Amino acid sequence: MTRYFGTIAASPKDVSFALAAQLVRDIQAVLAVRVSARVVFSTGATPVRTYEVLRQKYRTALPWQRVCVQQLDEYSGLAKNDARRFSIFLRAHLVGPLGTHFCELTGEESASDLVRYETDIAAAGGLDLVLYGVGVNGHLGFNEPGSAFASATRRVVLHESTRERITTEDGPAPHEAVTLGLGALNAAARVRVVALGAAKRDALTRGLLEPPHIDMPLSSLQAHPDVQFYMDAAAAPHGLALAPPRL
Ligand code: GLP
Repeated sequence: MTRYFGTIAASPKDVSFALAAQLVRDIQAVLAVRVSARVVFSTGATPVRTYEVLRQKYRTALPWQRVCVQQLDEYSGLAKNDARRFSIFLRAHLVGPLGTHFCELTGEESASDLVRYETDIAAAGGLDLVLYGVGVNGHLGFNEPGSAFASATRRVVLHESTRERITTEDGPAPHEAVTLGLGALNAAARVRVVALGAAKRDALTRGLLEPPHIDMPLSSLQAHPDVQFYMDAAAAPHGLALAPPRL
């Protein structure tokens, strides 16, 4: 029996077109009933092509000035202009070219700043849409394995497997970061997940096909009422079938 909705596409390019179209439909649905849409867009290499499709195909399809990009996570201890900053990534790929609003994280927030970051989201009516990438260890944002499914927005220590994957051309991988917690993230009205390549297959297999466990943050989404998965054939777990999202 198919338990999940989404698309397994032949190539990363096909994934990006299917996902971009869905994100636009999602934001249109939000803007039909709300003045603005509060959206988390994941960083990392995986969604880059999807963001390119949003810029090239959908720049004029939406009133992007009514979208607020809410930053998911940020490294700590980086210089303001360090190219690894996720805020720089989001400005370059989405916020600048599309003209959205931006609620940003610096990575240096105090515990009370982080509580405020989360309560401000709740006060604004919560997140309308979250687009997650997936860490090879199943992390969501920087909610590493072991994160409680109701975890708060907080400072975290990155796992070695995560640090190993961080490009070191610009310097050693940071040890710490701040991240929105799984509690606020998974309370979003809609969640979409994108994963490409064979390196993600193990996390997807454990996260989707095995019982939920805090050592696999991705599995926290099994209980979400509106989640869709977008993956290429290389990432797709053996035996997984996805029902096409209802249009
Ligand atoms: C980082 C980010 C995540 C992202 C993940 C996957 O750690 N904090 O938000 O989803 O890595 O990155 P990539 O798409 O490059 O594999």
